[in-house]
Amino acid sequence: MQQQYQFNYQLFQHIQELAESDALLLEKARINTKLAYAPYSQFQVSAAALLSNGEIVFGTNQENASYPVGICAERSLLASASVLFPQAHVVTMAISYQSLKGNSNKPISPCGMCRQAIIEHQTRYGHTMRLILSGQTGQIFVIENAAALLPLAFISKEI
Ligand code: THU
Repeated sequence: MQQQYQFNYQLFQHIQELAESDALLLEKARINTKLAYAPYSQFQVSAAALLSNGEIVFGTNQENASYPVGICAERSLLASASVLFPQAHVVTMAISYQSLKGNSNKPISPCGMCRQAIIEHQTRYGHTMRLILSGQTGQIFVIENAAALLPLAFISKEI
């Protein structure tokens, strides 16, 4: 039998259209791209998240001369959040980037490994995570449940 998967997200044209707390997170993510350590790709990614305890945590990509050792901004954020505030979960994560080789006017989308890590976080804490995706300028995507980005994901309940 044919099955169908539907993916819904919101599209905004400008940061001013976002709710105040979402705009603040995206602004932080956009500004913090300069804190990334990305000498190899020159693609600086940054994430800022609001936690369930009201704290805000950050992440940036951290590259390595041995390329696979590098870690994405999203997973560096999840690691920071988990170390600093292990009892709290991420409610909303904003992600942005700055490319030293090109434009930054389209929303970024988390890589497959980060999608898997986000789903582990959601499963661990039993809460969905919102995502705000954008470049330095241009359109903004808001996804209410990050798990929607990885249909039929492999999760711990299957082990
Ligand atoms: N990167 C992230 O940090 N997050 C993403 O969502 C996509 C890719 C990083 C990995 C690498 O340091 C650089 O961007 C280029 O792929």
